[in-house]
Amino acid sequence: MKSKLSKIGIVGGSGVDKLIFSQGFDTKEINTKYGNVSVEQGKLEGKDVFFLNRHTKGYLSPSHINYRANLAALHNKGAEAIIATAAVGAISKKFKPGDFVLLTDFIDFTKARGEGFTPGSFIDLSEPYDPDLRHNILKAAKQLKIKVNSQATYVCTEGSRFETKAEIKMFAKLGADVVGMTQIPEVVLAAEAGIPYAVIAIVTNYAAGIYKEKISSKEVFDMMKDKATTLSSLLLQTIKNC
Ligand code: HPA
Repeated sequence: MKSKLSKIGIVGGSGVDKLIFSQGFDTKEINTKYGNVSVEQGKLEGKDVFFLNRHTKGYLSPSHINYRANLAALHNKGAEAIIATAAVGAISKKFKPGDFVLLTDFIDFTKARGEGFTPGSFIDLSEPYDPDLRHNILKAAKQLKIKVNSQATYVCTEGSRFETKAEIKMFAKLGADVVGMTQIPEVVLAAEAGIPYAVIAIVTNYAAGIYKEKISSKEVFDMMKDKATTLSSLLLQTIKNC
């Protein structure tokens, strides 16, 4: 990654956008060959920042998100790095709802997510999450005294249903620490586009069969809402550090 960045993309959910990008940000429609994307664009800390709501305002489910258009839009804008946020369920008992966790690796259990930018190409994903960006996030967390766990392997499921207890047991055996539905193909497309990428994951719930009998989307959304302010400060400080 370049040492000081001037253009940063943020991919996240609604809530965070209103908190950080309230002043002087404009909504711009970006046309890509994969579709149109709405991006909030403005200046923070002297850098151009492009915020993209992954699920869009109408809330697309994880299987229906236009990941290629999203990544192409940030690429067209010249983003030199992308910091994303993502809700996850805890498989490992090291993590609990409310925790922030940096993803370091992933396992792909999706089934219908379509092609990358260049079908048939071989992409190196030995280190899918950029170490310099992760370092900048951890530094920001330290400055703000926010606890962030530095390492987790993520398993991506197709959704939109939650997992069964048996699936979660299997994922634990395979080495997954957290589960979510949106990293694939986003992280892969970032690698294809050559854009350093990192994710701050927010543990919103214990995964199926871990401590509790049931999970609901309400607990996921409620936790994201609860953490929006802290997450926004962490993002802002990270942007300063980049
Ligand atoms: N499973 C899959 N995706 C999720 C979860 C979960 O438990 N929590 C938040 N996103």
